[in-house]
Amino acid sequence: MRVLVTGGAGFIGANFVHQTVAERPDVAVTVLDKLTYAGNLDSLDPVKDKITFVHGDVADTALVDRLVADTDLVVHFAAESHNDNSLHDPSPFVQTNLIGTFALLEAVRKYDVRYHHISTDEVYGDLALDDPAKFTEATAYNPSSPYSSTKAGSDLLVRAWVRSFGVRATISNCSNNYGPYQHVEKFIPRQITNVLLGVRPKLYGSGTNVRDWIHVDDHNRAVWTIIDKGTIGETYLIGADGETDNRTVVETVLELCGKDPSDFDFVTDRPGHDLRYAIDATRLRTELGWQPVYQDFRSGLQATIDWYRANEAWWRPHKDATEVAYSRTEQLIQP
Ligand code: NAD
Ligand code: TYD
Repeated sequence: MRVLVTGGAGFIGANFVHQTVAERPDVAVTVLDKLTYAGNLDSLDPVKDKITFVHGDVADTALVDRLVADTDLVVHFAAESHNDNSLHDPSPFVQTNLIGTFALLEAVRKYDVRYHHISTDEVYGDLALDDPAKFTEATAYNPSSPYSSTKAGSDLLVRAWVRSFGVRATISNCSNNYGPYQHVEKFIPRQITNVLLGVRPKLYGSGTNVRDWIHVDDHNRAVWTIIDKGTIGETYLIGADGETDNRTVVETVLELCGKDPSDFDFVTDRPGHDLRYAIDATRLRTELGWQPVYQDFRSGLQATIDWYRANEAWWRPHKDATEVAYSRTEQLIQP
């Protein structure tokens, strides 16, 4: 089977490629990636002799047409993925997340190629902190940020191409991922690398916001489960019951690194900051039989800290520029 993985030099895509090469010898992987600031060819170094890499843009219709004509399956990870960046400049989010998805959909439609669309639970907006409810496949879309609204728009394009043109697509909406190869701009790697460098972690606002953490390998195994067993045209939510507030995450990182758990700073909150995400993955578990391997967030976090400690050469070149960008808007506050 030939698989075109878009965004395969990014965090989740690179882990997907590693997992696929290791566990599915019958799959030939081609990665299409623009290598934006978030793409890193070093992440594919361990598998570089076993895959084909194409440097290019998912919105380049001629290139996408040529690559899709030559594949059996497209797994579309490529996106602008960081909420904070989307608040400073939404333009690449509209271009890549909407126009890029449109280009892929037109190509899979033309060649009748199976398509899996990677999306986020952030399309559903947020939940109240004291609400027992979780997102399900029936929750109405209500995105908050330029990032989540462009992801929501891309999901709706997929649904329309399924219904109007019979495109053979599935969609998955996953909660927050953690694990190796995640860019240091994101919450968990930012705080781990801060602590490793002796810098105090930075919590937005009061630190009470809740995210539903899942290990990236569990996400990617769920994606393969949906590709193997999912029903065309359907959406599946992916989550591992990992609800944790941000303050607890930071305190745990500090503790696991042998530091004082109160040794962090509060900084200015993100505008429009979603309060809480929580996934009900019953459908994926019961209909498709998936379950997460990483059931314990603390041990998954320890493994991730160990990975960042052992792979400073991978993240160190990107750390300073990331922190300079944050320092332009971030100020210390008392919550
Ligand atoms: P990432 O930012 O780490 O990686 C994105 C990759 O896409 C990079 O390699 C980048 O170079 C590439 N890319 C960006 N624009 C491109 C373009 N126009 N053409 C080709 N390549 C392009 O993102 P990630 O965290 O790995 O997220 C991957 C996907 O998973 C995204 O669709 C995201 O919305 C979704 N998702 C992420 C999370 C999470 O917690 N990170 C959770 C749920 C869903
Ligand atoms: P992030 O990793 O940006 O993911 P998302 O916005 O998609 O959930 O942020 C996760 C949570 O951590 C979110 O509530 C914002 C918060 N956060 C901080 O408190 N400090 C930080 O330095 C960053 C980057 C995020």
